Amino acid sequence: MKKILAFSGSSSSRSINQKLVRAAAGHLEPSNVTVIDIRDYPIPIYSIDIEEGEGFPENALRLRALFSEHDGFLISCPENNSSITVILKNVIDWMSRMEGKIFQEKPVVLMSTTPGKNGGRTNLEHMAKLMPWWGGSVVATFSLARFQDTFDVEAGALRDAEQQAELLAAVKALEVAVG
Ligand SMILES: Cc1cc2nc3c(=O)[nH]c(=O)nc-3n(C[C@H](O)[C@H](O)[C@H](O)COP(=O)(O)O)c2cc1C
Repeated sequence: MKKILAFSGSSSSRSINQKLVRAAAGHLEPSNVTVIDIRDYPIPIYSIDIEEGEGFPENALRLRALFSEHDGFLISCPENNSSITVILKNVIDWMSRMEGKIFQEKPVVLMSTTPGKNGGRTNLEHMAKLMPWWGGSVVATFSLARFQDTFDVEAGALRDAEQQAELLAAVKALEVAVG
């Protein structure tokens, strides 16, 4: 059975991006998706000293194994200074030092949500541009601006039907891409 790995690129225990990931993953059969919290895999900031002295950190290897065991990715990354978060970039940096491509030629849906009106679009474009270098294939992007107004936290769902349909379409595109 094809399986999707879903996570956010947030280091926050109250992450709005993790909430968006859960809402998106809710459109998949529970047995077809694994939702993880990247904070459960703490990894030291990449250093060649650590790599040469101690090898790959255990959690980087655990994440790498999860990437290998899944067939596609559902990722929501907060925008920090127009770019990717440190915690996700660090995972990418460590994995880039391992054998093979980071996203292993698998399909990816990239999402972002922010309290502001841009919905992380700058970072979404940035990540979508870089994804081929990271070995992933972007099948859809989804941006949710003004999270506090547009997301019903209690229901764990988007308030607007059109946005909800757009999110569903992105998830379905990923389902089709993983085959
Ligand atoms: C260091 C820092 C930089 C940020 N830079 C941006 C930014 O460039 N553009 C933007 O829209 N929001 C920016 N924000 C707001 C974040 O996008 C917002 O905190 C994020 O959506 C929270 O997501 P999370 O709850 O999933 O961690 C920044 C926040 C932090 C802490």
